[in-house]
Amino acid sequence: MTFLFNSDARRGAIFADAFAKALPDLPFHMDAAQVDPDAVRYLITWTAPTDLARYRNLEILFSIGAGVDQLNLAAVPDHVKVVRMVEDGIVRMMQEYVLLAALALHRNLPAYLAQQRQGVWSPLPQMQAEDRRIGILGLGMLAQAVLERLKPLGFPLAGWSRSPRAIDGVTCRHGEAGLEALLSETDILVCLLPLTPETRGFLNADLFAKLPQGAALVHVGRGPQLDEAALLEALESGQLSAAMIDVTEPEPLPADHAFWTHPKIILTPHIASVTQPQSAARAVIENIKLHLAGQEPIGLVDRARGY
Ligand code: GLV
Repeated sequence: MTFLFNSDARRGAIFADAFAKALPDLPFHMDAAQVDPDAVRYLITWTAPTDLARYRNLEILFSIGAGVDQLNLAAVPDHVKVVRMVEDGIVRMMQEYVLLAALALHRNLPAYLAQQRQGVWSPLPQMQAEDRRIGILGLGMLAQAVLERLKPLGFPLAGWSRSPRAIDGVTCRHGEAGLEALLSETDILVCLLPLTPETRGFLNADLFAKLPQGAALVHVGRGPQLDEAALLEALESGQLSAAMIDVTEPEPLPADHAFWTHPKIILTPHIASVTQPQSAARAVIENIKLHLAGQEPIGLVDRARGY
């Protein structure tokens, strides 16, 4: 029985240390060339290696990140459990980033940054938090944690998911009709959806048109969910006022891409939330213990759903 770590050596060293203490009987390897492929029961990686099939006894494929869209699930044998990263560090960082973005957009930061560059000192009208409605697309674990963090700030909060949810203090919408309702009542839209065939191109001209004029976007899902040309048009026409974008397609963007210099866009390089090795190692160790005890790991992916 072996655990194979297929990622950077810096995080690997932290994992190795945690595994040695918590699971001393489970051999831990970082070099695939050094292990007997038949011994590998657990593999952690970002993208699945092309030779995944050689690990015939693989039981769990762990994603080192929160998303699993990069894994090419179709190529993973059906009996292998796929587990996304659910760990405190990712959650905390996503809370911080969405809070930062919501406040930046609420307080007109993109406009003030543009004014600063032009040497303009000009206060803008300021809406109060109780009038600024925040709507989150996706009501998974990260979105729920973000909503909890937003609560004390006084923004009216809403969220949308495929199936019904109930969250205290949050207007929960679901399904097609629920989406229209959410969009029509959202001033700051946050995309925290997983990337699946259904969410590809989700943030498009149609969707932007359903938001109140002057709404703003926070994109922390995945690049291919956003129609970038539609966003530029919506910013141009004033349908949207600003956007804070952390994920793009491709990453990084080409040097001449409009997002780099757009006065209404704040762009960050996919740093909203990054797996933290100490807490991630703890989470993976807990999951292996659950698995060994015959229980389901936390973050088990529904292969049919894709997340
Ligand atoms: C980052 O985007 C992740 O999936 O952890």
